[in-house]
Amino acid sequence: MAFFSYSNNYSMLLLIVLLPCLLGFEKMAEAGNFYQDMDLTWGDGRGKILENGNLLTLSLDKASGSGFQSKKQYLNGRFDMKIKLVPANSAGTVTAYYLRSQGSSWDEIDFEFLGNLSGQPYIVHTNIYIQGQGNREQQFYLWFDPTADFHTYSFLWNSARILFYVDGRPIREYKNMESNGVPYPKKQAMRLYASLWNADDWATRGGLVKTDWTKAPFTAAFRSYNANGCVWTNAASWCCQNSAPWMSEALDAGNQKVLRWVQKKYMIYNYCADRKRFPQGLPRECTVPATNP
Ligand SMILES: *[C@@H]1O[C@H](CO)[C@@H](O)[C@H](O)[C@H]1NC(C)=O
Repeated sequence: MAFFSYSNNYSMLLLIVLLPCLLGFEKMAEAGNFYQDMDLTWGDGRGKILENGNLLTLSLDKASGSGFQSKKQYLNGRFDMKIKLVPANSAGTVTAYYLRSQGSSWDEIDFEFLGNLSGQPYIVHTNIYIQGQGNREQQFYLWFDPTADFHTYSFLWNSARILFYVDGRPIREYKNMESNGVPYPKKQAMRLYASLWNADDWATRGGLVKTDWTKAPFTAAFRSYNANGCVWTNAASWCCQNSAPWMSEALDAGNQKVLRWVQKKYMIYNYCADRKRFPQGLPRECTVPATNP
């Protein structure tokens, strides 16, 4: 029977494999649903998915914090999340939102929001780990109160650069400088994680202020998660959108200006400027010129 010939079966198989990609294109632009996209991984009921999957809250009390992670793993992508941070006296609490791969030589791209006393500014702490090696911290204040409303925090990770955005404004860029011997995360797929935990031993300038447990539980809220990336399954990466804008995303002249403005006005710590910490010389990526535009 010609109908069941090998070549027909083969094209049928191809169609089945490609169909989700063809259909998925439209869907990918929509905000995700926390029930479908995330697993509450720890915190014993302190993490909650609400509003039919459109809202997720994490809470922290003296006994425990809480956290969630994405079901999918990605190799490169653009990840947006709206977050409303712990209000009022949040000193000692850390809300973390990050990408991380598995294993002992993991890659990781971090946003960590360090709480503060009422009316005092949050610190946005960023870091990048490559093969288990971090020490690439940059810290910022924000130009708004991150507890009054939801704001969008994004990672862009493609083969040329990592970008951190706040409400669409770039605050940090780490370029691929492998041609100059600087490591770059490119082989290990990452999951998206978020957590709320107590870090009053370091987050308040070395433990200066302690978490006020009479104000517990502390709560941070998440919504409008959107991941556009290459989904990693069984050691193969499904990249449906070969021409997806995030793959070639870079900063145009206007955005480079915004980045310089944020760094000039709001950056409070930059490891690349901390010569005391690196007496033998600054890390290589701080001194070599980036060859990628
Ligand atoms: C908290 O507020 C103080 C005083 O304004 C500030 O120096 C500090 O950077 C803020 N953030 C943290 C996490 O301590």
